[in-house]
Amino acid sequence: LEDPQFTTTDPNAKELLGNAKKLLSENQVIAIPTETVYGLASNALCSEAIQKIYFVKNRPLDNPLIVHISSLKMLKELLPDQIEIPKIYESVIKKFWPGPLTILLPKPESIPLEVTCNQPTVAVRFPSHPIARALISTCGFPLAAPSANASGKPSPTLASHVWTDLNNKIPLIIDGGQCNFGVESTVLDAISSKDPIILRPGGVTFEALVQIPGFENLRVYSKDFIDKKLEMAPTTPGMKYRHYSPNAKVVLIDLDGDRIKARTILKREVRRIKNGGAKKIGILVFTDNINIQNDVQESKIDLNTNTLINDFDLPNNNNTIEYSLGSSIHPEQVAKELFKGLRFLDERKVDYIIVEGIPEMNEGLAVMNRLRKAASTILKE
Ligand code: TXA
Ligand code: MG
Repeated sequence: LEDPQFTTTDPNAKELLGNAKKLLSENQVIAIPTETVYGLASNALCSEAIQKIYFVKNRPLDNPLIVHISSLKMLKELLPDQIEIPKIYESVIKKFWPGPLTILLPKPESIPLEVTCNQPTVAVRFPSHPIARALISTCGFPLAAPSANASGKPSPTLASHVWTDLNNKIPLIIDGGQCNFGVESTVLDAISSKDPIILRPGGVTFEALVQIPGFENLRVYSKDFIDKKLEMAPTTPGMKYRHYSPNAKVVLIDLDGDRIKARTILKREVRRIKNGGAKKIGILVFTDNINIQNDVQESKIDLNTNTLINDFDLPNNNNTIEYSLGSSIHPEQVAKELFKGLRFLDERKVDYIIVEGIPEMNEGLAVMNRLRKAASTILKE
């Protein structure tokens, strides 16, 4: 693992990186693209810069941040001689860095308390996005960065999402297009207890991690076990605070993959919510929905927005709007579209967003984790 060799002949790119570096060196906060979601970045070694992150996104002061590095050398420089990168992480680092995996390490003195909220551990990630990597290595210092949404909102996967939430609050948003993964990194803790544990499922899947030597007993927090003590502490991602919530109420139909039944319940819910007086309803749909091909065969997909122009067989369908998350048997597609879909429907001022669950396999685990947190109602019948 080496520093990315960022070479560009594009004077605009050089100028952009130079400007971004200047702002970050002045301890300002800027939005940057990563392969997972957009991040709200500032100098991870400076308390004042870190405090601004919490202020800008109105983040609870006890929710710790991830430190982003651009080389293992940079990580080693953060750790004093006595602290080594724990052996257990060696093979996951080799396999998944740079990429959407965050690991918990013993917190070194060099990291300000504001980053870790007094935790004994610090979360570290080596992103693979070329702009993020180039920027961190240009700066020469690590960047602390939570997702660049206003606290509680769905994470941004487009620069325009950041603009919506934070436009008058930060001096720069770097537009890198749509994020590839669309859900945040996997947060992995292999040092705090006997067995390694995924605190937050994300871009690197359980299935991929459990194959790594030393990770045979890998568990997933809140799926395989719940720790009452941890639950009270916000260090376990998403436990204490409301997350990923659009303005609309989200109804999740979570039937362990019974698609036919889910479809019936979905139609029933749309009717029920309409009868209850809701004016506009958004539905997150899948292209492989059972029967949906028949239901929507008259429909055209608007390729720019991913929405179905016509509606399927629902009463008063003129106020129902659909957004396609892609195929549910390709959870990586669903993950990429999820936050974008929630925000798309929110922008159209729907009162409710209804969505069916998908199997919790591969990226499906992260998708369901985010949907459960976004949902105000989860239907399980
Ligand atoms: O993909 C990502 O991880 C994105 C991009 C920008 O890198 N970042 C991101 O950051 O999702 P944020 O702040 O939205 O989520 C970080 C999560 C938080 O929920 C926090 O609880 C957890 O990581 N975390 C950070 N430090 C921790 C620690 N020392 N112990 C346990 N959890 C920690
Ligand atoms: Mg976040």
